[in-house]
Amino acid sequence: MCAHELRHWLRSPQIHTFPYDHVRSHYHEVGKHFVDEEMLRLLEQARTLLPTIPGPWPLVQTLAAFLDTALDKQDGTYDYTSYIGLPLLQVPTVDDPVAQAPFARTRCDRVGAQLLADVLAFELKATEAGATLLPAMRPEPELVTKRYKHGLRALRPKLQRMNLKHVLTASSPAELARQASDAVLVDRSEVERLTIELSVLPVYTAHDEYMFLRVLQSFETTFALLTVQLRAVIEALAGRDVERAVHFLNESSTALGESAPLFSMLATMQVESFRTFREFTEGASAIQSHNYKIVESLCRVPDSERRDSAAYLSVPAVRQRVLDGQYTLDEAHREIATSGDVDAAGLERIRDAMSSFAHTLLRWRNTHYRLAVRMLGEATGTGYTEGTPYLNAVREIPVFHTVSDESATDERTAKLS
Ligand code: HEM
Repeated sequence: MCAHELRHWLRSPQIHTFPYDHVRSHYHEVGKHFVDEEMLRLLEQARTLLPTIPGPWPLVQTLAAFLDTALDKQDGTYDYTSYIGLPLLQVPTVDDPVAQAPFARTRCDRVGAQLLADVLAFELKATEAGATLLPAMRPEPELVTKRYKHGLRALRPKLQRMNLKHVLTASSPAELARQASDAVLVDRSEVERLTIELSVLPVYTAHDEYMFLRVLQSFETTFALLTVQLRAVIEALAGRDVERAVHFLNESSTALGESAPLFSMLATMQVESFRTFREFTEGASAIQSHNYKIVESLCRVPDSERRDSAAYLSVPAVRQRVLDGQYTLDEAHREIATSGDVDAAGLERIRDAMSSFAHTLLRWRNTHYRLAVRMLGEATGTGYTEGTPYLNAVREIPVFHTVSDESATDERTAKLS
């Protein structure tokens, strides 16, 4: 354990010299669940000193977020958000000004591309002789090739929008993965590099947990984008701006649809590996995903039974927004449909775009359900629900009341590739 560097830093703490590499290496060597007591004690000291250390705000914020994430198990604050290091990623939030909605996708493309490029680089590195990072339960080469392919499928639309797609010239999946990850990773700012690197602290040393974390973070980046875009839709409907409402609904459908290959990528996770590291993730479940529930509750007011169940009791801040009367897309749609301000063609365009978004969200829920069944079998979930029966029950909850989800039944049978 390299506590020496940390002790040395504590004698003369400066924001630019924090020994991130040493601390991270120790966490990766043993897994967050097994971190040395001495290391935890020194990190606590570092956190106590933090308010007295001057420096540029992005670097101070990064160190603060890293220390909170690294110490979550010790602090008793360990949960889904801290497990996936979300505060480090600085994705947009639902409270950002709606005027920023057009830029949210650019930001999320960057973060999403960097997350995927990083996991591809990790998989490539692990195939090299002498690779030491997370050595337990390495996957077979065929499985890794599938990961490259699905990862690239998720990455391609982002590369296209970032004007980087031309770098993909190779023919083998491994070489394509290398080209994509090199192109994205070389284009990062220093703070972006740091935050992406620090945001993976697996609880154990199993290889597959790295991909698990990156996939969760990638989905969260998409949910964050949807929270901003759905608010823009609601505002546009209130302002009778059909074009803008349809635009952001379509953008949201596209973003969610583009994330689908991430499920295929995650389906290459080895079940034994998942069951091994899952022993140490107790208390962290995506039922605590703030952004997912914001998305759901921005679409329409959740039924009181669901609002008062684990689904919303696991995200108290979102539940409070609901209780405070958060205005929803469904309400805005009902209002515009009865206002007489918009002609029939305009209303139909809105309905079609809502229906298409609902369809994509139902598909997401069904794919998620099938993946959970594959990975968990009969085991219960980590979010204190009964596990897959919970997901089975919630997957057909209507996304909107004012627009029907006729496609729900078709979606139940859609395949997980
Ligand atoms: C190995 C793969 C996965 C398994 C086995 C799994 C399992 C589960 C289970 C059992 C639940 C119910 C809550 C609980 O008891 O924990 C749940 C909820 C949830 N999961 Fe997953 N999940 C997986 C991957 C993912 C991924 C990649 C995401 C993307 C962020 C995700 C997002 C969610 C969300 C948002 C909920 C809450 C759903 C709701 O309350 O309606 N899950 N998951």
